[in-house]
Amino acid sequence: MGGGLITIERHIIDQQKLHPGARGIFSNLLYDIALAAKIIARETMRAGLADILGRAGTVNVHGEHQQKLDVFAQETMVAINNHTGRLAVMASEEADGIIPIPREYGCGPYVLIFDPLDGSSNIAVNVSIGTIFAVYRKVSPGECGAEEDCLQPGSDLAAAGYVIYGSSTMLVYTAGHGVHGFTLDPSLGEFLLSHPDIRIPEEPRYYSVNQGYESRWSEGVRRYVKWLQGMDADEPRKPLSARYIGSLVADFHRNLLEGGIFLYPSDAKNPNGKIRLTYEAIPMAYIAEQAGGYASDGRRPILDIRPEALHQRTPLFIGNRDLVEKAEEFIRRYDS
Ligand code: AHG
Ligand code: MN
Ligand code: MN
Repeated sequence: MGGGLITIERHIIDQQKLHPGARGIFSNLLYDIALAAKIIARETMRAGLADILGRAGTVNVHGEHQQKLDVFAQETMVAINNHTGRLAVMASEEADGIIPIPREYGCGPYVLIFDPLDGSSNIAVNVSIGTIFAVYRKVSPGECGAEEDCLQPGSDLAAAGYVIYGSSTMLVYTAGHGVHGFTLDPSLGEFLLSHPDIRIPEEPRYYSVNQGYESRWSEGVRRYVKWLQGMDADEPRKPLSARYIGSLVADFHRNLLEGGIFLYPSDAKNPNGKIRLTYEAIPMAYIAEQAGGYASDGRRPILDIRPEALHQRTPLFIGNRDLVEKAEEFIRRYDS
């Protein structure tokens, strides 16, 4: 026992060997994120006990009520990462502007973008939630980072990943050499490699969309979902099963392992959909592509979009490549 266990530390060191000349800064940044994930996981598991459930009474930049765990996750990510000298700047869904690194700690070469707690409306009902992260290299000229570092297109990502706090806690990440999944062994406090080299199955099983908003959808989206259900008379297909959790991380994770598509389209009320480009869509798009899938805003690859604002929203279609390309086809045909 033990010799076959691959901890996330060992895995990251092995990955680092693929990059001769790497100084270990990036590897250490990934450990830092894994540590933050363990702290958030611990708090998530105790949420009911620790009287941490419920609203914090504050409202974030999107006008949503922040949950106490949102605040906790935000503070944990910042506190673990701001003093290491590895980062130039951070940005979070739960912060208005960029999060600068305090001068006294010194700045490093990487940029960390995150959604500290995704799916937070699900906390109070004990449904899976997650943390999403994206890592870029600093591109701005100054000593420390600036907003432009946080507005890079996904094609420039160095790494991306998510943590899912579910029936077990998992960390899934890619640094451009495939997608790797680790499960937290609570008795060891270690993430162990459980899902090496994840590939999205060719045969999809699920489609995931908030069907409650169908009345607001465009013609193209409505017809596309009918197609997914096998109800397109011109092009019948085997119907996919519907699954929708309402936590992007959990919906994406299931479809990554089982095959399928998650969509949060634009609609009559939300012309840009709901999902945030920088914190949610771009990191998930990179993971999807690394697993053989694809992500689009309905017209172009998510990874090609250069964000213009930190909190920009985007329609999102993500999952098996052929299903996502089919969505683009319906949108081209009916919504132009
Ligand atoms: P967050 O909790 O970070 O604000 O994100 C919630 C998002 C996303 O996780 C999920 O896919 C979507 O909101 C669900 O929205 P609807 O309730 O409108 O379906
Ligand atoms: Mn989110
Ligand atoms: Mn969030």
